[in-house]
Amino acid sequence: MIIAVDGPAASGKGTIARALARHYDLPHLDTGLLYRAVAATVLRHELNPAKEADAVAACDFDDLLLADPALRDDEIGKVASIVSAHPLVRAALLQRQKRFAAQEDGAVLDGRDIGTVIAPNADAKLFVKATPTIRARRRHAELHAHGSSLTFDQVLADIRARDQRDSTRSTAPLVAAEDAATLDTSFLSIEAAVQKAIDLVEAARARKAAACG
Ligand code: CDP
Ligand code: CDP
Repeated sequence: MIIAVDGPAASGKGTIARALARHYDLPHLDTGLLYRAVAATVLRHELNPAKEADAVAACDFDDLLLADPALRDDEIGKVASIVSAHPLVRAALLQRQKRFAAQEDGAVLDGRDIGTVIAPNADAKLFVKATPTIRARRRHAELHAHGSSLTFDQVLADIRARDQRDSTRSTAPLVAAEDAATLDTSFLSIEAAVQKAIDLVEAARARKAAACG
């Protein structure tokens, strides 16, 4: 079974994807980390994230980097959204994600284009959303807990800028797949959101089983 989980920053998609992977005993890939690793490599080598050739050169990062907690940094998220708009960067990371999705046991992937590009044939697709204010509140609390001094207004402005960039780029923009179920987590606890996600996956599986006769 392949489960695709997409949505904007701090919508709760990572939390939901991890919980689904545990529930169904499937491997999980947070694809945002790949773009964050490219961003971190760009910054380390003092390259220009807006230049496609510079960003492509940074796609050859050391896999150990994916485990670095510093990738969660807000600045890295911002640069990730700049490098991820380059078609050649997306192409460089495509096969690795498709391979992950195609492994025999199945997989859960979360990101922006899982249901539309990486795994268009996924058995279940969720599009997770929440209002910008609520997402900014969540991200602000997270960053604050990690010692960041960014204000709520700065985090909200960053979230809006990232939404705008991710939704308007020409290659693989952030958009719900036509056959995705939308899950609004704005007023849901984590437990309630996870339960709703499981229910939606079960409904998608039942529909698929019925369609296969
Ligand atoms: O956790 P959060 O939603 O803040 O960010 P993320 O999922 O780690 O993604 C960071 C950035 O990478 C996003 O703003 C996107 O621009 C980009 N990304 C993407 O373009 N496609 C994906 N499948 C995943 C992330
Ligand atoms: O992966 P994404 O950036 O979409 O979000 P996340 O990392 O799963 O969630 C962002 C923050 O919101 C985390 O601190 C979660 O614990 C929190 N969260 C929440 O408060 N309520 C939810 N229903 C889902 C997540």
